[in-house]
Amino acid sequence: MHPMLTNAVKAARRAGNIITRASEDIGSLKIQTKTYNDFVTEVDKAAEQAIIDTLKELYPTHGFLGEESGESNIQSDFIWIIDPLDGTTNFLHGFPQYCISIALQERGVLTHAVVYDPNRNDLFTATKGRGAFLNDKRIRVTQRTKLQESIIGTGFPFRDFTHLDTYLAMLKDMIKKTTGIRRPGSAALDLAYVAAGWYDGFWEIGLSTWDIAAGGLIVQEAGGIVADFEGNESWLKTGNIVAANPKVFAQMLQTLAPHLTDDLKSPK
Ligand code: IPD
Ligand code: CA
Ligand code: CA
Repeated sequence: MHPMLTNAVKAARRAGNIITRASEDIGSLKIQTKTYNDFVTEVDKAAEQAIIDTLKELYPTHGFLGEESGESNIQSDFIWIIDPLDGTTNFLHGFPQYCISIALQERGVLTHAVVYDPNRNDLFTATKGRGAFLNDKRIRVTQRTKLQESIIGTGFPFRDFTHLDTYLAMLKDMIKKTTGIRRPGSAALDLAYVAAGWYDGFWEIGLSTWDIAAGGLIVQEAGGIVADFEGNESWLKTGNIVAANPKVFAQMLQTLAPHLTDDLKSPK
């Protein structure tokens, strides 16, 4: 494993320990509401701090983009993109589907990624050009060729309802054209599941960079395609994302195409 990835894994496991300890007594957590349906606890913050402290000690000149602490030293060539707890709503309800997501971006290019599920001890990793792994095993996207036989993951809009009607129209088509839709509630794990071949594809509207940076690289390194709704590269910026094996990817784009409002198309 590349030393930078090893260190990212170390940081993710530290955050995992904090989250797991806290999960044993969810009732005593102080919950703040950031915006409608957007919650944050001291666990999200402590987990992010542990990740940043670990990486900063090793790489004092690097920059950070963390969901809870925002940007720091962002002009650096190396930016760590961190979601310390992806799936906070699940965590708060004791629903065991959440993870830690850490990616490294070097001069704009994603190079290392970790998505760690502390409930199942599933460690998904990737380094650009070196493949994707679940624990020590190489993972690959599925070879399924038909959307009709595919399981597709997604995320429902639950905070910002601007695109709710559009999303529901997309979902209706996807329900009819696939063998099943899943919405477990952690986008970073959803992407890791595409990479592992547990889903054939995934789409969601308006995610944040920290939700998808690590999972996106893991899918690419597992042989999948990650793009925006028109098949272009804006996914990391816009958060409008489709990820799938190459065959299913094309059929997902076709399914979504009739529903794309101008603001869901690739930026000009
Ligand atoms: C959320 C999860 C969820 C997705 C949301 C994200 P958070 O992240 O990834 O699956 O549907 O859009 O914001 O807030 O739990 O870190
Ligand atoms: Ca998230
Ligand atoms: Ca989060």
